Amino acid sequence: MIDMKFVRKKYTTGKIEFEALKGIDLTVGKNEFISVMGPSGSGKSTLMNIMGCLDIPSSGEYLLEGINVRTLSANQLAEVRNQKVGFVFQSFNLLPYATAFENVEIPLLFAGVKARQRRDRVMNLLAQVGLAEKVGNKPTEMSGGEMQRVAIARALANKPNLILADEPTGNLDSKSGGEIINIFRQLWQEGHTIIIITHDQNVAKQTLRTIRLKDGTIDNNGNGSAPL
Ligand SMILES: Nc1ncnc2c1ncn2[C@@H]1O[C@H](COP(=O)(O)OP(=O)(O)O)[C@@H](O)[C@H]1O
Ligand SMILES: [Mg+2]
Repeated sequence: MIDMKFVRKKYTTGKIEFEALKGIDLTVGKNEFISVMGPSGSGKSTLMNIMGCLDIPSSGEYLLEGINVRTLSANQLAEVRNQKVGFVFQSFNLLPYATAFENVEIPLLFAGVKARQRRDRVMNLLAQVGLAEKVGNKPTEMSGGEMQRVAIARALANKPNLILADEPTGNLDSKSGGEIINIFRQLWQEGHTIIIITHDQNVAKQTLRTIRLKDGTIDNNGNGSAPL
């Protein structure tokens, strides 16, 4: 699913260069259920952005389902991202003036899905995350847990194999957070590859593998006996 060879990522701010990833070697198989932990600033979000083709490595190789992202144009990269990856963020990133239905519909509009199919797919997705009754609600009319479920439905719209979540429970109480993790577990059981960045040991414990980052390197790749 994911194959990284000595991936580095350098950010340049003015004259200052900072290496956020310092040579990451990582393999993730199909249908894994993974958490990524590490101190703030250790490079977790940078790693996720590269995994999800939101950004490319400064050097090293990244293959997503066998495709070397370096060989792709910006348009091709966007296409790969839209078809293969679903994103879930801590702050939900929903459009505030759009309903749950409209938020989930957006990726399908971009993918050129016809109106009738769009409608069926959006209704199915919102039902899948338990929000059949909230299709007409806007984010301001929903709880944090409900907003995150809309975001998950949106992430699933184009049936991506890979779901990437950056602190998806970070803004939620423990009950709503637990419900979100249960949805991810269900998606994993349905065959998706799930990678969740988290600070929460209780979230990490529910995944099958925990990758630990430290200062832009992999402290523990989570294969073998992970020290919990
Ligand atoms: N766009 C950027 N420009 C400059 N520095 C960045 C940028 N994004 C992240 N960084 C720096 O890279 C390091 C890793 O950031 P990040 O991947 O967000 O870490 P984490 O998600 O683990 O907290 C941090 O020191 C951060 O300040
Ligand atoms: Mg982060």
